[in-house]
Amino acid sequence: MQIVRSSEELAPARAQLNGRLALVPTMGALHAGHMALVEEAKRRADKVAASIFVNPAQFGEGEDFERYPRSESEDVLKLEAAGCDLLWAPTVADIYPVGFATAIKVSGVSERWEGEARPGHFDGVATVVAKLLLSAMPDVALFGEKDFQQLAVIRRMVADLNIPVEIVGVPTVREPDGLALSSRNAYLSADERQRAVALPDALQNARRAILAGEPVSDTLRHAKQALVDSGFLKIDYFTLVDSATLDPVAAPAGDMRLIAAAVIGSTRLIDNIAI
Ligand code: PAJ
Repeated sequence: MQIVRSSEELAPARAQLNGRLALVPTMGALHAGHMALVEEAKRRADKVAASIFVNPAQFGEGEDFERYPRSESEDVLKLEAAGCDLLWAPTVADIYPVGFATAIKVSGVSERWEGEARPGHFDGVATVVAKLLLSAMPDVALFGEKDFQQLAVIRRMVADLNIPVEIVGVPTVREPDGLALSSRNAYLSADERQRAVALPDALQNARRAILAGEPVSDTLRHAKQALVDSGFLKIDYFTLVDSATLDPVAAPAGDMRLIAAAVIGSTRLIDNIAI
């Protein structure tokens, strides 16, 4: 696997990759969820590139940019074992050189939920993903359903800007007890880790209740109560939304998703499930 750091190195390395190219953008600290994206990428393209860039622009003030887990040497071994062809691991100065002044704002789909809890977050995500896509020019790029609103924001941006790439969503990879894999799970104490399973449990129970015809508002109230009972300190949202627009859905209709974000200890977890 070739490793490149700068845009100048990326261009010739990219040019050498013949055939259909897939890109898997990440912030590193790779786990089986990320590797599922690489595996799906291998099925959909001739060559696979991954990027590792902990993007300062998508972290708010007081968020975990500084302490975000970084493990590049382990990440390189995992990508090599998975048959990844190219790793692009740029520096902050390469992505945001002095004078950088452009931001991409995706209205509507980015405004509620994560957008409300983390102001500016999706501007940072959209801007860096546009830059990654336009620099690597993949035929297909893969993103996890774990970050469901992020996937919807990226789909909207790519459609609106005619970026010539196919966006593929990959189902969430979970621990045996149901907790979604996340680099931030490393922040959980043993006790918090045990209690964190209440989040996927609440999503599963709410899904069953909605499919059984229980009113949506009652279902969401019960789910939030279950999280509080399990020791979640703050629930940013636990809601039923339209899968494409992320608008709230009061009565079941069409393609829907239950999405949730809640804090346990000092760790904020997000998860979602299809209805
Ligand atoms: P990061 O959190 O490193 O995630 C990289 C990709 O892996 C994202 O598409 C994310 O949805 C996916 N992913 C994470 N956990 C997963 C899981 N348990 N199952 C399946 N996929 C999972 O998301 C980002 O980085 C950044 O915002 C990025 C898109 C790279 C832009 O900076």
